[in-house]
Amino acid sequence: MTDNPKNAFVTGLAQWFAQSHRPLPWKGEKDPYLIWLSEIILQQTRVEQGLPYFERFRENFPDVQALADAPEDLIMKNWEGLGYYSRARNLHAAAKHVAYELGGHFPDTYEGIRALKGVGPYTAAAIASFAYELPRAVVDGNVYRVLARYFGIATPTDTTAGKKEFASLAQQLLELNPELPSRHNQAMMDFGATHCTPRAPRCATCPLQPHCAAYAADEVARLPVKSKKIRKKRRYFHYLVINQGEEVLLQKRTEKDIWQNLYEFPLLEQAAAETGEEALRASELWQRLLGGANAQVLQISRPFQQTLTHQYIQAVFWEVSLPEEATLPNSAPFVRAKRKNLSKFAFPKIIDWYLRDNSLYLKLV
Ligand code: ADE
Ligand code: SF4
Repeated sequence: MTDNPKNAFVTGLAQWFAQSHRPLPWKGEKDPYLIWLSEIILQQTRVEQGLPYFERFRENFPDVQALADAPEDLIMKNWEGLGYYSRARNLHAAAKHVAYELGGHFPDTYEGIRALKGVGPYTAAAIASFAYELPRAVVDGNVYRVLARYFGIATPTDTTAGKKEFASLAQQLLELNPELPSRHNQAMMDFGATHCTPRAPRCATCPLQPHCAAYAADEVARLPVKSKKIRKKRRYFHYLVINQGEEVLLQKRTEKDIWQNLYEFPLLEQAAAETGEEALRASELWQRLLGGANAQVLQISRPFQQTLTHQYIQAVFWEVSLPEEATLPNSAPFVRAKRKNLSKFAFPKIIDWYLRDNSLYLKLV
């Protein structure tokens, strides 16, 4: 029976899982709301990073109604630092949908769950199996890696053919496994995240090693295969930190771009890293905000850098002081904020780093 590599895989995985110890607060959880919350937080996020956010959301928004009724800025503030902010916006939209259009009942079919904003096939399979034991296999980067190695599959995972092949194999394995779908899926996730890891997988102590094709062929490091390499775009941000007395000028990002709905300072984006004060003063932004005023550039920060999935951001902060008599806008997208209240706004990381560096930031607890 276990001579068949598929059977050997499911038995070996179940044995591995029975002995693995990775206590996580949502393991064994049956409340679909909390499962959904944890899965959205864990999209593109490591467990260690996501854990404190999960605890915070569970405490501040204990059920779907509480999340639906929370102000968006408060949700963004709770999400601050976790990245991929569209997740937080979708979470809020989906919570309102469940609370007000589904009568507070979380959907209990795969299709119903999948139809929620921000829920893709992976997350829908995770929620469907964890909350309702529906037999849907999770497929993500961890699963691609484990299956590509164990079965020696070199089909690129970022192609339509690859996605189909891996999804179908993952589903067959789940259906072969006598364990509950929730246990099988959690075992796949944990095995990929902690044992068959991208770098330095623990093949020496791996119960799947006797049937592992990549191990036998010494191809572990070469699998899985991707067809494209993403080239990251470089962007150069110049922020105007306009101080007037106790106040600083902020703006809310509303464009369909990174950091939607987070706050920042008025921004001048340039094609190159360097900008002189002359060029800055001549910019449309400066003219619009500070045109006739006697504004002084007090200092320029060091460059700060943040790496996102598809972009490198470099930001420089120009600290400008504006005399009391000049007037600053105070209507959308602009907000005049008291410096001591800055910690109430949700900022991108790069701005948080700058604020901490300048000890302007007061931690909100
Ligand atoms: N990543 C996504 N969902 C997860 C889960 N339920 N457990 C561990 N890691 C995960
Ligand atoms: Fe992954 Fe190594 Fe185990 Fe194969 S033997 S499944 S490559 S950890």
